[in-house]
Amino acid sequence: MREKLPLNFGWKFSESFTEDVFKKSFDDSSFTTVDIPHTNKELPYNYFDEKSYQFVCSYRKHFRLSDRAGRGEKRFLLHFEGAANYAVVWFNGSYLGEHKGGYTPFTFDVTDLIARDNVISVKLDCTERSEIPPFGNVVDYLCYGGIYREVWLETVEPVYIKDVFVRTPDVLNLKKRMKIDLEFSEKVSADVRLALKDASGKTVAEKGFRADGRKIAIGWSVSGVKLWDIEDPNLYTLTVTCGGDEKTVRFGFRSCEFRRDGFYLNNRKIKIMGLNRHQSYPYVGYAMPASAQKADAELLKYRLGCNLVRTSHYPDSVHFLDRCDEIGLLVFTEMPSWQYLGEGEWRENCLDNIRAMITRDRNHPSVILWGVRVNEGQDCDEFYTQTNALARSLDDSRQTGGVRNIPRSHLLEDVYTYNDFSHSGGKIALLPSAIVCGTKAPYLVTENNGHMYPTKSFDTEKVRLEHALRHARVQNASHGSKRISGAIGWCMADYNTHKDFGSGDKICYHGVTDMFRVPKLAAAVFSSQQERTPVLETSSSMDIGDHPGGITGLTYIFTNCDEIKVYKNDELKSVIRCGENKRFKNLRHSPVCPLDYIGEALVKEEGMDPVAAKYLKKALLAASEYGFVMPPQHYLEAVFAFLKAGLSFSDMYNIVVKYFAGWGSEQIAYKFEGYKNGELVKTVVRTAVTSTHLLAAADKNELCEDETYDVTRIELLAVDQNGNRLPYANDTVRISVDGPVSVIGPSEFSLIGGDRAFWVRTSGRSGKATVRIVSDTIGEQVIELNVTKV
Ligand code: GAL
Repeated sequence: MREKLPLNFGWKFSESFTEDVFKKSFDDSSFTTVDIPHTNKELPYNYFDEKSYQFVCSYRKHFRLSDRAGRGEKRFLLHFEGAANYAVVWFNGSYLGEHKGGYTPFTFDVTDLIARDNVISVKLDCTERSEIPPFGNVVDYLCYGGIYREVWLETVEPVYIKDVFVRTPDVLNLKKRMKIDLEFSEKVSADVRLALKDASGKTVAEKGFRADGRKIAIGWSVSGVKLWDIEDPNLYTLTVTCGGDEKTVRFGFRSCEFRRDGFYLNNRKIKIMGLNRHQSYPYVGYAMPASAQKADAELLKYRLGCNLVRTSHYPDSVHFLDRCDEIGLLVFTEMPSWQYLGEGEWRENCLDNIRAMITRDRNHPSVILWGVRVNEGQDCDEFYTQTNALARSLDDSRQTGGVRNIPRSHLLEDVYTYNDFSHSGGKIALLPSAIVCGTKAPYLVTENNGHMYPTKSFDTEKVRLEHALRHARVQNASHGSKRISGAIGWCMADYNTHKDFGSGDKICYHGVTDMFRVPKLAAAVFSSQQERTPVLETSSSMDIGDHPGGITGLTYIFTNCDEIKVYKNDELKSVIRCGENKRFKNLRHSPVCPLDYIGEALVKEEGMDPVAAKYLKKALLAASEYGFVMPPQHYLEAVFAFLKAGLSFSDMYNIVVKYFAGWGSEQIAYKFEGYKNGELVKTVVRTAVTSTHLLAAADKNELCEDETYDVTRIELLAVDQNGNRLPYANDTVRISVDGPVSVIGPSEFSLIGGDRAFWVRTSGRSGKATVRIVSDTIGEQVIELNVTKV
């Protein structure tokens, strides 16, 4: 049987390195004690020198093997899930090997070196070495440093099962076939047993056969299994037993194919609506454990309503992919790279990355496409012939893509995956597919928006709305196209980057959420497409002073409701039937515009003649949309109305001030009610702010320290008396903690754009923890957590 010994707690770390660190007897007592995932340097939120984490450092880990571990009988494999960027590893004073690349796992057989008391020594080079992809030129993201994914020792039999790969061709038949590739550590001649179990652990089918060889391929047809789908992600495990060894992999029965008319999952066409994800977090960069990775998958699927994520521009954590499998979120994953194609060793390392990515991830049903071209690189047929051949040799069940930004570039992949940044606010939302890639290739838009319109959560309302509308325009164009498989927006969250990119503060504000994963308005374009939770986001606080000349323009409502009732001072002014008032006709749930805040008021309150009132209302509504540069017919409407109603100039002035300019003595309260299937599901009230409050909520309140520490994110919002977020609130907040957790990053900070989040981590003990969040200006909140330790 296999045993796993997690080795994540209590490493010794130093920001410097000397060769002595490799010696078993080296005295590391002056080193700092750290836990894995670990970042070699905590960074400020913004405005820092990105060279500050690019140095060579040392890690050491002492561990004792129990007497029952099987020394002398078993094999011992030392496994690293990810260390950025170049690791040289020694074990008990002997050299084990090295690994180049921060995103792929590596394993050493330490059987011959293992003792009762052991020490692992790692020299970790966190600089951007030009022979390691994506480095060689500038890169628009930080690759950080540190042993930032888990480490463990695995005890296996002398002859063990190295790899199990399950493919599921013809899933649409009643009997579903599996093609199973087994790889043993050496040639075997032995009985093998296979057990197929469903997600509850129930055995669905079993089979035995005789294996002869090192690599074995067998087929197996089973009935009574359910498909894996984005709506119903049924997972199965296959346990392979041979001799004393047993290996289990999880997979799903599904087919996936990009065709020239779109993407098909189990032969059902699905329009892809996705976002790109960088795996970075504030302060700690890449160093976040399983639960934070999983929370991002949930954010994308449940809060943002996406059906696909692109792991731009490298393989993400297996925890992230595991969660994507579990919740039904499709994944396009790709080799590490960014615009630069190196030569010589760079290319060898790139091929190694592809090999490691595919062998690690090919059982994940969520993964539907391999990216095997340098993101936005130039054509290079020689190299991409190699990358594609390698990918296909490792997995013939998935297509390849290769993300480019050059129309009509050479297609050696199966799917034309293209970053279309043509939308810059004008009429063109996406380029015609025929221009980009002709008429034959399957086509997927892999990025859009991003740098074309960086948007901060504290930008003016006009900017935040335009950011949202740009995403809506692109998604609308994608949904309206019969050719395009879908569009993946740039990007999920703001991210730290190099000096050449971003807003000068080392942040690219390209996310539909900020770095803390708090949604911006643009997030509502995505979240309003899902059905799970009601969404009703108004684009405006209805404060005219935030707009040049007091012209608010159109207010948009991003919603998945069927009907919106608009009230002004508790008087119903209009009812919008969302399906009939689509601003973006191809979206399932289009944003709508509640234009009419006047209703019958001109007749009822001002006593105007109904015909005059009708024309004046048209003119007033046009003025609030366009300002004074409105189409000429609206001026004519206004003049006609005033003449017909026989109004004086002062009457006219008063009406314009009251219904158009909107300032004056009266305190206006706007209320938007959202109905779904006739039931009121969401209410938003917008009126002058009279008080401000702090809200705090944890992503989860139960934490569990197991193979490594656990974290939870606590989201803070400054809201008004009606619960509306206050985008210009920057109150200071202090965090104090009582119990077995600690705060990641600073414990005192100001809100940014009316929000902020922070993560707390477990610290080795179980029990109740209290997190107190205090602001002298907007109040106090307490979050109770419960920590268990396995
Ligand atoms: C693309 C690139 C992304 C990101 C984006 C910003 O060109 O692939 O990594 O930099 O631009 O919009």
